[in-house]
Amino acid sequence: MLSGMYIHIPFCLNKCNYCDFLSFKSTLEERNKYVDSLIKEIEMYPKLPLETVYFGGGTPSLLTPEQVSRIISNLNLKEGAEITLEVNPKTVNFEKFKLFKAAGINRVSIGIQSFNDEKLKLLGRLHSSSEGEEAFFLARKAGFDNISLDLMFSLPNQTLEDLKSDLNHLFLLKPEHFSIYSLIWEEGTNFFEKLKAGIYKETDNDLEASMYETIIESAHNNGYIHYEISNFSLPQKRAIHNTKYWKNEEYFGIGIGASGYFENIRYKNILNFPEYYGKILNGVKPILEEEFVNKDEKEIYEYILGLRIIPDGIIPRGKYIDICDKLVQDGFLLKNSLKYTLSQKGVLMANDVFDKFI
Ligand SMILES: C[S@@+](CC[C@H](N)C(=O)[O-])C[C@H]1O[C@@H](n2cnc3c(N)ncnc32)[C@H](O)[C@@H]1O
Ligand code: SF4
Repeated sequence: MLSGMYIHIPFCLNKCNYCDFLSFKSTLEERNKYVDSLIKEIEMYPKLPLETVYFGGGTPSLLTPEQVSRIISNLNLKEGAEITLEVNPKTVNFEKFKLFKAAGINRVSIGIQSFNDEKLKLLGRLHSSSEGEEAFFLARKAGFDNISLDLMFSLPNQTLEDLKSDLNHLFLLKPEHFSIYSLIWEEGTNFFEKLKAGIYKETDNDLEASMYETIIESAHNNGYIHYEISNFSLPQKRAIHNTKYWKNEEYFGIGIGASGYFENIRYKNILNFPEYYGKILNGVKPILEEEFVNKDEKEIYEYILGLRIIPDGIIPRGKYIDICDKLVQDGFLLKNSLKYTLSQKGVLMANDVFDKFI
């Protein structure tokens, strides 16, 4: 049964040079109005007991602890539910972390991106490396025992040595979990413009592959399990919420631009405030588009998303067994009894593997 909720907080202090997530500058009043609307939107869905809640953004840590608490108190939570808040280092201090904890947040995901000040500047981040590190220590001191850090790699002019230095820095902190994303050159971003103008160039494929292999190997040497393409955790510390996406489970998506999956329908919410507020005021779900997922499509999602969880893999049925056996022959998958998982080669070329199911 559905037991996860994603809540989108579309506010940031500033737009980072590489990012095309839905986010805007805002005042405290605008954020208050938005929180009121989120609560009304939540009330439009059945109050099912939730195992996981994920505040994503944008920058959810721009909300006050009181605003976060107001949202949480309107939810029906299962005992021990995982409640994650994404944090930008520039928006927090010790007191705020303590109050987020008191409001019910028990997992934070901090956007570090890099520990190199020069790279942080290039990315358009407002914090320094030491402020990123400080945010981690403050969260620990405030009692958070489940912390994830976000890093990025394949950055303009980044060398393998730069990346190793970022990884070593991260391993010294020993977060329970980390995500590391290869830079995507998103259209409409400052980075994309510079790419088009020839100021930046994309990382060479071989270097990017070496970077990814270095990440996997060094994470393993430091006790982390590579459990999803971009995600690593200490034992028993997988992101429970995100794992629901990869297990193809249904979840509510709340807030502007949020995606959700409910009663076999994948939906995406309206992308602008006036229309969003208009729908909420009229007591109508602010859905922009929806797609019914039939049985066949559901099965394909199950395989493509399922393979992303590297240790768990999938148990295919029908014609998909042949597709998987061929992928085993070609060295992309491993077979263990009925279960198929990505091989080392398959992990490096995961998108090519997923294409075979479509
Ligand atoms: C919503 S943000 C995390 C929280 C907060 N907004 C922050 O940046 O500190 C989610 C993550 O997506 C990653 N990300 C955003 N844009 C990206 C891009 N173009 N390519 C790769 N990763 C990206 C970053 O690592 C970022 O931390
Ligand atoms: S990376 Fe995070 S802080 Fe930067 S613009 Fe995107 S959502 Fe906002």
